[in-house]
Parts: sequence; structure tokens; C-alpha cells
Amino acid sequence: MPQVLTDSSGNAQRDRRSSSQPPNQDSIIQLKGVSKTYRNGSQALIDVSLEVKRGDFLFVTGPSGSGKSTFLKLLYGEECASEGEVRVDNDFPATLRGDRLSLLRRRIGIVFQDYKLISRRTVTENVSFVLWAQGYTRKEINRRLPPALKMVGLQHKAECFPEELSGGEQQRVSIARAIVGTPPLLLADEPTGNLDPDNSWQVIKILKKLNQIGITVIVTTHDESLIRLSNHPVVQIKNGRLSSVNY
Ligand SMILES: Nc1ncnc2c1ncn2[C@@H]1O[C@H](COP(=O)(O)OP(=O)(O)OP(=O)(O)O)[C@@H](O)[C@H]1O
Ligand SMILES: [Mg+2]
Repeated sequence: MPQVLTDSSGNAQRDRRSSSQPPNQDSIIQLKGVSKTYRNGSQALIDVSLEVKRGDFLFVTGPSGSGKSTFLKLLYGEECASEGEVRVDNDFPATLRGDRLSLLRRRIGIVFQDYKLISRRTVTENVSFVLWAQGYTRKEINRRLPPALKMVGLQHKAECFPEELSGGEQQRVSIARAIVGTPPLLLADEPTGNLDPDNSWQVIKILKKLNQIGITVIVTTHDESLIRLSNHPVVQIKNGRLSSVNY
């Protein structure tokens, strides 16, 4: 279960353990007193502390502009915290550059609302591209591809182009692409934001299946009905402050 350090009012408290602590094998994500203010003065996150254990499935909800995407960006090193400490899989993304940041990102699968597929490439090419870019051999790519496509139920669409797929299918391709490198952590930012309820539930079921085989999954969503159906822990970000929520 994710540990949101909260006081009785539901506000996040600082985790007082210091950064000099040795690696914690149980925990894959630790945020301690994290705030993020963008250059234009937007305060996206305020004093957020959270621990996510390996194997957890966590929903992050909250109104538009509350800081959900910013929270994920800090985890994969797209943005750096203005204050506090972010630790992901025993690394500190904010301190990493170049190859070392790339190595951390290989351990993080990312899924976006708008799929971000390459339109002139087939499903097979879209999914294998990431492995190819990381220097995997053709043999290894061929070994990894079928199970990734099977996981999302798209073996039969392997040679299709994105425009030949429905939105739900395109999102499932993007999930296959995110997991084909077998990362321990999967971050999904509004993965169901463009999908109807049936396709949304299908995507969540795939994420649950991935979680059952040991991948830690963090999903941001506005969709409270999905959260209720899914029965996983939920944290809410409101005006940059994070608290746990019971549904
Ligand atoms: N690159 C940026 N520069 C300046 N301000 C930003 C930037 N990115 C986000 N913000 C601001 O930070 C706040 C949080 O934005 P964020 O994208 O994290 O929200 P969100 O919860 O993901 O919203 P949504 O549900 O609409 O996706 C907002 O006020 C937003 O305007
Ligand atoms: Mg967002």
C-alpha cells in the first residue's frame, strides 16, 4: 500500500527520514517535502510527501491544473523539484543527466493520454522502436515483442498502422511500448482521458494485470467511476497539496 504521510486534517506531512538513508528495497518511490514552482510562478506542488512500495497500484486524482502531471514529471525527470527530494528506484532523477537519466528512464514505462505513436510506423515498429533505440539485438526484440502485444491483446494488429486502429487499440499499443522493456515502474498520465467507458475499463484491466505480475503502477485520472470499480488506493492532489482519499 502507498504510504501517504498525513496528519489528522488529511494534509501531507514531511517524512523526516534523511536523504542519507541507505537504499530502501521495499519502496520504489519516495517524495519528501516536495514543492514545485514553475518559472512563471505557478505553484504546482506544495510540500508533498509520499512513499510507494514496490508492487503497489496507485491512482492519483484531482481537478485540472492541480499538479498530477507535474507529480509524474518529477518521477521521470522531466521536471525538477524546487524543494524537497524525489527518489525513484533508488535514484534521484533531479541529479541525473544524459546517459544516467536515460538509464533511469529505461526502468520507467510511460503512457500518455494522446498515445504518442509514430503514425508512419506499424504497431510492431512502434513497439520495437524503443528497444532498437536502446541497442537491443534483433533476436531479443523478436523475443520481447509477442508477449508485449499479447499482454494488450493486439497480436492480430501487429502490422497495422495507428490510423487503422481505434483509440482504445492505440492506447493499448502505447502500453505495449511502455512495458516491452520490462520496467519495474509504469506511469500513466490520464491514459483513459480520450476513451469511452468500455475502452477505459479495458485499459485499466490491462494495467491491473501488469500490476499482478509485479509492476508498480501509478495512474492519474479524473474518472471517479473507474477508481471506484478498481478498488486500489487513491491519493488526491488539490491546489498542489496531496492527501489520501477513501472511496
Ligand atoms: N511548464 C509549465 N510552466 C508553467 N506552469 C506550468 C507548467 N506546467 C504546468 N504548469 C502549471 O502547474 C499547475 C499544475 O499543472 P499540471 O499539468 O501538473 O496539472 P494537472 O493536474 O495534470 O492538470 P490536468 O488534469 O488538466 O492535466 C497548473 O497551474 C499549470 O498551469
Ligand atoms: Mg495533467
